[in-house]
Amino acid sequence: MQKNHRHAMMVANWKMHKTGAEAAAFLARLRETGAVKPGGCFVVVAAPFPALAAAAEAAHGMDVGVAGQNLHWESEGAFTGEVSGAMLAAAGCTYVLVGHSERRHLFGETDEMVHKKVRAALAAGLTPIVCVGETEQQRAENETELILRYQFERAFWGTSAEDLLRCVLAYEPVWAIGTGNTATPAIAEGAHRFLRHCVLDIFGAEAAAGFTILYGGSIKPGNMRALLEQPDVDGGLVGGASLDADTFAALVRTANVS
Ligand code: 13P
Repeated sequence: MQKNHRHAMMVANWKMHKTGAEAAAFLARLRETGAVKPGGCFVVVAAPFPALAAAAEAAHGMDVGVAGQNLHWESEGAFTGEVSGAMLAAAGCTYVLVGHSERRHLFGETDEMVHKKVRAALAAGLTPIVCVGETEQQRAENETELILRYQFERAFWGTSAEDLLRCVLAYEPVWAIGTGNTATPAIAEGAHRFLRHCVLDIFGAEAAAGFTILYGGSIKPGNMRALLEQPDVDGGLVGGASLDADTFAALVRTANVS
C-alpha cells in the first residue's frame, strides 16, 4: 500500500522478550507464512540487544529489517550497560527505536536525550523510529497537541528536511500501550494529522507528504485495518501482538493490502 508515496510499515517491538533462538524461530515461522513479500509493507523487528545478531542472521534474504530498541548517543566510552549506534549497525541493525514511552517513563529519558539519540542514530546510518505520545492525564487536560508538538520539535531540532525523511515517527499514546485501549481510528487520525501538520510547518510540504508516521498502542489483527484506512496512518508499531509470528503475519498481511 502507498499513500502519497509513503510505503506502509509494520514494526514488531518485542520489548524484553525473546532470546536469540526464539527470535530465529519467530523469523523462520514468519518466512513460512509468506506474509513478507516484495511490494508488500516494510517489516521490521525490534529485538533485545542479545538477540539482535541472531535476528539479523535469521532475517537474511527475507526483506525484514532489524531494529535495536535503544542506543546511547556517544560512539564509545565508559558507559556501562549502554550500546552505540555503530554497535547496532555492526550487529545487523538498520533501524533503532528512540524515545519509546517505556524509556521515557520508566528510565527517565528526557527530550534532550531523545534528540541526541536521533542525531547518533542518523550518524550511524540507522533509521530512528522516534516515539511520541501523551499520557491519559495530558489528554484529559487538553494538552495532547502541545505535548506532541514539543516532543516532535525537540526530537528533530536542527535536523534537515533531507535527514527527517531518513527517520520514522511513531505516535504511541501512553494510555493505549499494553492496556487494550486502542485509540479509535478518529483519535489516531487526529493526532497523526496534527503531527503531519507540524512536519509541514517546520520542514515543508515535501517532507510532510513523504514522512512515515506509525500508530502504536494495543494493535491487534482486529483493529489494524480501520487504523490503516486513515489517511495519515502509515503503519503500526506493535508490542504484545507482535510476539507470536502468526499474529504478526496477520498484521503484515493487513498492511500489505489496505
Ligand atoms: P502494545 O501493542 O503491547 O500495546 O505495545 C505498544 C508499544 O509500546 C509498541 O512499541
